Amino acid sequence: MNGDKPDGLKFVDGQPYTRNLVAGISVYGESLKKISGEEYRFWDAKRSKLAAYLKRRGKVFPFDADTNLLYLGAASGTTVSHLSDLIIHGKILAVEMSRIPFTKLLGLSEQRKNIIPVQADANQTGSYKFLVGQADVMYQDIAQKNQTEIFIRNSEMLKKGGTGFLAVKARCIDVSQAPEKIYGQCIDELEEAGFIILDKKDLGPYEKDHAMLVVEKVS
Ligand SMILES: C[S@@+](CC[C@H](N)C(=O)[O-])C[C@H]1O[C@@H](n2cnc3c(N)ncnc32)[C@H](O)[C@@H]1O
Repeated sequence: MNGDKPDGLKFVDGQPYTRNLVAGISVYGESLKKISGEEYRFWDAKRSKLAAYLKRRGKVFPFDADTNLLYLGAASGTTVSHLSDLIIHGKILAVEMSRIPFTKLLGLSEQRKNIIPVQADANQTGSYKFLVGQADVMYQDIAQKNQTEIFIRNSEMLKKGGTGFLAVKARCIDVSQAPEKIYGQCIDELEEAGFIILDKKDLGPYEKDHAMLVVEKVS
């Protein structure tokens, strides 16, 4: 991992855990564990692509207590909840389009005040742009054919020098092409849009035909 591991993230026997912001509450059935007298939540790599990235020895992890995070494709908040454990003084603008997961995300945000849920289509940035300002980090996990285009469009809200995570689902872009070829095409598009690639990790065996691309916005 580049830089310091954030306070609140620990590894026990190679498994990631985050310090629970809301003591006693398990968000999605994950186990709770006392570590050095404090309560931590197991971060399941089969349920969260960011945990899978860590398990695959992903080296970029720019989240700290004060991060301003734009999160696209929040669903019911599985990964968002772990980031909420880490970003204790910052904020997570969590965008989700579908009503049923969004309802659960709303419930989560009532317990966790650093989550700002927004029900919106990430293709239409106008409805939430004013809430973000300049994000330090942008994270996207949206299974749509135009996922790279959505990422580039939203990156106008990412500060210069900020870090972006794009969880690519290859089969959603083109089932007929090999995943590696799709990842290469995404990388070309991102570089053309002015990003530099910091890291790329295939997320198997936790997520088949998925990769995490991590980029820095340079211009
Ligand atoms: C794989 S799930 C996200 C899981 C979540 N990131 C996690 O790790 O807990 C993808 C989510 O993206 C949402 N989604 C798909 N298209 C979207 C769009 N255009 N704008 C916003 N959300 C979208 C879906 O409704 C779905 O909940």
